[in-house]
Amino acid sequence: MNVHQSVLLQEAINGLNIKPDGVYVDGTFGRGGHTRYILSALGAKGKVIAIDNSSAMLSKAKARLKKSGLSERVTFLEADAASADLSGFDFDIVFAFNVSLFYKGAGPSNVFDRVASGGHVGVFYQNPPGSDKQRLFNMLENVTAGLTSQGFTVLKRPVLKSVVSAPTGGVVAVKNRVA
Ligand SMILES: C[S@@+](CC[C@H](N)C(=O)[O-])C[C@H]1O[C@@H](n2cnc3c(N)ncnc32)[C@H](O)[C@@H]1O
Repeated sequence: MNVHQSVLLQEAINGLNIKPDGVYVDGTFGRGGHTRYILSALGAKGKVIAIDNSSAMLSKAKARLKKSGLSERVTFLEADAASADLSGFDFDIVFAFNVSLFYKGAGPSNVFDRVASGGHVGVFYQNPPGSDKQRLFNMLENVTAGLTSQGFTVLKRPVLKSVVSAPTGGVVAVKNRVA
């Protein structure tokens, strides 16, 4: 079976504090590798909302998950993560890899507003190979500002050493609990 190995699968998801019965949004479903990994950490009640704005990517990855018997706990949405209709969902974690909208301005309030109190967000980027590390740092700075302005506290900003040719890192943050 040809199972796609997602970039930095474990490094990206570790630290997100996955709860077995949580509801998770994968804002960039892509070939489904990160969603598979999240599913493997969930129990019977856990769910993933898998979003991708490419119908081709979505239908191929959806078919692969179905074949492996993993699609029952996944809701698929073909949408731009910035404007996806997430009403009716309350979720604990948002995970996204290489999606530009999370570092433009304040970030998508339709997504961040709905994260449960105490829930986590992990946003990761891999810059083009050979690009300046400063570019990654600037991006992480923008994401931090966006998340902070929308009620999150940044827990860590991992810069991954395992990828030498392409600066890669992210921001992991937790939604502040309202007193
Ligand atoms: C690098 S892949 C993500 C990797 C994926 N999680 C995996 O395990 O293979 C990026 C994906 O995000 C999708 N994407 C990019 N911008 C998006 C957006 N604004 N909203 C939803 N999906 C987006 C692309 O179509 C692509 O499939």
